[in-house]
Amino acid sequence: MHVDLPLMSDMHVHLRQGVMLRNVAQWTGSCCSHCLVMPNTVPSVATAADVASYRTEVVEAFKHYPHCKPLMTFKLSPSTTADKVMAMRGLTVAGKLYPEGVTTNSGDGISRKILERPHDYPNFMDALGAMEQAGMVLCLHGEMPDEFCMDREVQFYEFVRWVLLQYPKLRVVLEHITDYRSVRFMRVWGDERFTATITAHHLRLTLDDVVGDKLNPHNFCKPVAKHPADRTALLEAATSGDPRFFLGSDSAPHPISDKECAAGCAGVFSAPVLPELLTTIFEEQGALPHLEAFTSVNGNRFYGLPQPTETIRLERESWQVPDLCNSNVVPFLADQTLPWRFS
Ligand code: NCD
Ligand code: ZN
Repeated sequence: MHVDLPLMSDMHVHLRQGVMLRNVAQWTGSCCSHCLVMPNTVPSVATAADVASYRTEVVEAFKHYPHCKPLMTFKLSPSTTADKVMAMRGLTVAGKLYPEGVTTNSGDGISRKILERPHDYPNFMDALGAMEQAGMVLCLHGEMPDEFCMDREVQFYEFVRWVLLQYPKLRVVLEHITDYRSVRFMRVWGDERFTATITAHHLRLTLDDVVGDKLNPHNFCKPVAKHPADRTALLEAATSGDPRFFLGSDSAPHPISDKECAAGCAGVFSAPVLPELLTTIFEEQGALPHLEAFTSVNGNRFYGLPQPTETIRLERESWQVPDLCNSNVVPFLADQTLPWRFS
């Protein structure tokens, strides 16, 4: 028994730099036609020159996977101007807004002050206006700084509403939604230029998998996995075929020493299990016919990209996820058995 799936589009992936980038490219490269590369590197990807040099590094790392096209993004910061955005026209398909301090490498993100009173910040408003004019997508890490961690996503909607009303042509993605209220928010808004990505791990985890028994740092990510009812809403949205929900894995590798320590980094490294886990989840939900809409169709449609012509094959054959990749990163579901194999 097998499933043939069009090459996936991972519309949110952290590839990092240097050795880590060269080591992790194989997983995304082997199963995707497109991937949207996040800009929270160190230093971050913030200007046309940064994008050009990071793109060169990423393309080199993907050279054995010619069917996989990396799509570049830049990171919005308080010093992003409309001119800087315009200089990135044609180089980036999206700009990523990280609220200040809410996740890995977001210290130079957008402060709560700006998110609460964007009208008072003309540079910021002009930068978003330039993105709208340039046809770039605004990708939002939807968490409000300084709120209680389980409520950060909900407390961010006010800013999202402001963006959608202020910039009527701007296309907006609420990234890695985790809260049932985000699914409701999207449905009620009902606008096809407003979409959401969903990760594979948020379709699997609840907060119990992070802190319910022994602390599991490899299931810790931002936004943190929430209540079983939230997971149910995400499963329902992802498997519904609704074109506004699509895959953004948020695969985020960190060296084991940065995860298993006192101040562990947020991020789940799901790339090594991504097609296998998604096939497993959609099968469990009785939704295999909607798998390709989620993994391979909806994201491309939203970003205006061609649909893939090649497929990957998943065989119904169990395999054990390794406990370590490249001798220093623990993959999601390490040591566990999955019923579908991609090779
Ligand atoms: C991401 C990372 O490690 O870069 N971490 C995470 O927990 N998701 C950043 C992000 O997307 O929040
Ligand atoms: Zn991310």
